[in-house]
Amino acid sequence: MNLTTLKKILLRLYRYYVKKYLNKLFIALFLSFAVAAGTAGIAWLLDPAVKKIFIEQDKTMALLIPFGIMLAFSVKGLSLYFARTITIRVGHEICKKIQVEMTSKILLSDAHTIESKHSGKYIAHYLYDVSMIFNLVSTGLLNLMKDSLTLIVLISLMFYQNWKLACFALIMMPMAAIVAKSLGRRIGKVTSQSADVSGTLSAYVSEIIKASRMIKIYQQEKFEFNKSEKILDSLKNKQIKMGLVMFRAQPIMEVITGIIIAGFIYYTSLMVSTGEIEINSFFSFLTAMMLAYQPIRSLATINMLFYQGAAAAERVFEVIDTKSTIEQIDHMPNLKIEKGSIEFKEVNYTYPKTKEHAIKNINISIKGNTIAALVGHSGAGKSTIINLLPRFFDATEGQIYIDNQNIKKINLSSLRKSISLVSQDIILFDDTVRANILYANLNASEEQLKRACDFAAATEFIEKFPESYETIIGENGIRLSGGQKQRISIARAILKDSPIILLDEATSSLDSDSEEKVQNAILNLTKNKTTLVIAHRLSTIIRANKIFVLDQGKIADSGTHNELLKKSEIYKNLYNKQLSTN
Ligand SMILES: Nc1ncnc2c1ncn2[C@@H]1O[C@H](COP(=O)(O)OP(=O)(O)OP(=O)(O)O)[C@@H](O)[C@H]1O
Ligand SMILES: [Mg+2]
Repeated sequence: MNLTTLKKILLRLYRYYVKKYLNKLFIALFLSFAVAAGTAGIAWLLDPAVKKIFIEQDKTMALLIPFGIMLAFSVKGLSLYFARTITIRVGHEICKKIQVEMTSKILLSDAHTIESKHSGKYIAHYLYDVSMIFNLVSTGLLNLMKDSLTLIVLISLMFYQNWKLACFALIMMPMAAIVAKSLGRRIGKVTSQSADVSGTLSAYVSEIIKASRMIKIYQQEKFEFNKSEKILDSLKNKQIKMGLVMFRAQPIMEVITGIIIAGFIYYTSLMVSTGEIEINSFFSFLTAMMLAYQPIRSLATINMLFYQGAAAAERVFEVIDTKSTIEQIDHMPNLKIEKGSIEFKEVNYTYPKTKEHAIKNINISIKGNTIAALVGHSGAGKSTIINLLPRFFDATEGQIYIDNQNIKKINLSSLRKSISLVSQDIILFDDTVRANILYANLNASEEQLKRACDFAAATEFIEKFPESYETIIGENGIRLSGGQKQRISIARAILKDSPIILLDEATSSLDSDSEEKVQNAILNLTKNKTTLVIAHRLSTIIRANKIFVLDQGKIADSGTHNELLKKSEIYKNLYNKQLSTN
């Protein structure tokens, strides 16, 4: 990371996140003053302590000065504690704000943008990167205030005690600055690499957990173990490197300090012999110098915190800054549904990062309240067509109309409200049966819920669960059977009660009993609605008013089942090979 980027990111962090807490940070700054004063007070008190108590043996001072020292320590300790409580609060508030912004971005981005990155990488942004930003805005900021103030006060004290010695001791400062500068840049780079590996690790862990059954049946435990070892190894190396760079400043600083103190003692021995410095000033000076060592060391490493935090913020901002091409614009007119007719006009779609059209020249016209079916070989583009309707992504070319309204020119929310989707792979939350079904309509009454479940033929199995509707179904419904999952997802779609139904029929076939139940559920779902179904089952196809045969992204034929059997070779082929089997 170069200096310009660093400045830009820090400035943005300041403007949008830190500025709001400026008043609190001022209090922390004031408390930092107290810490600095307390620290310097300790060093300063040693001067009278030596002089009055040991040399002059003053009885009152023998009581007052120790009391003063105790007070100085207390002021330092308490102020530091309160300053920390402020910066910890501010730091976490800022982290939460950043996490909220990332969440809202993830929720509102279009499908392709979100899916372009593994979920594990997002998790790393939430945990790893945000913790780095916390270190910057909490620890970094506080240390910067407290240590620079302490240093200034201690140096002033050193000058007060003896300016010649002070000049001598100050040679240390530029050396420390040079060390700090070179290490700071390096740490930014290592942090970025380490964040990358953290992202890879969380992606990997989530994959092996999801794939646990597949790993077992293919007996690839060893393979995965080796793979994990590689990732963990690389993370370990990056972390070690980061740790080492972090503390590389320390021995250099120690050596510099050693040289300075050695030279200092030699130099003072000369001064004491000429009577240029008194023993009490010397003690006070030495203490100030020793105490200055900690803030110097901290300041020498502080820019690493800044580089680390900025590198993390850069990655987080990248998520926050992604532009969504498909978004809700409030002033757009709402979709007005009359019959729910659907029309595709010359629609093409190409997936990002691919060259071939997934679908081309699609012209489909579906009358309201009818059932249209899409059939075709795997990969023909059926799911792509369905996904264009709720605008998960937009057609590359061509237009799509619902009741003669271009879907790009209407309010996104009203469009999605009118569409129910039962997809090929069912998505369920790790929550109760009730919560999963009510997801379609959080305000639905108990009666509506039960009715939807009845229609979806789901009531019978739900009520057999010991906890009925309150049963927790596990991650993506792991505790349910395939047919049960399908029926829950259908109940959810029924509850949404929208005029257009998109159905991507599951290819996995169920036993004939469950099959019949799911079919009945679908029949209930699609009653009096416009339905576009990707059909894999003959029963669905026969029911369709119109069938579109899709071949390599193009509509090859259309008509009813009987018409197509007569005129379409592709359809006949498909029918003989796939459809008739189930
Ligand atoms: N996210 C994606 N990125 C790139 N290409 C994709 C993406 N999704 C699908 N494709 C490609 O687009 C083409 C059409 O895919 P689509 O999912 O529409 O097929 P389908 O007809 O639904 O197949 P199936 O019956 O197997 O579900 C395929 O060649 C596929 O490889
Ligand atoms: Mg598909």
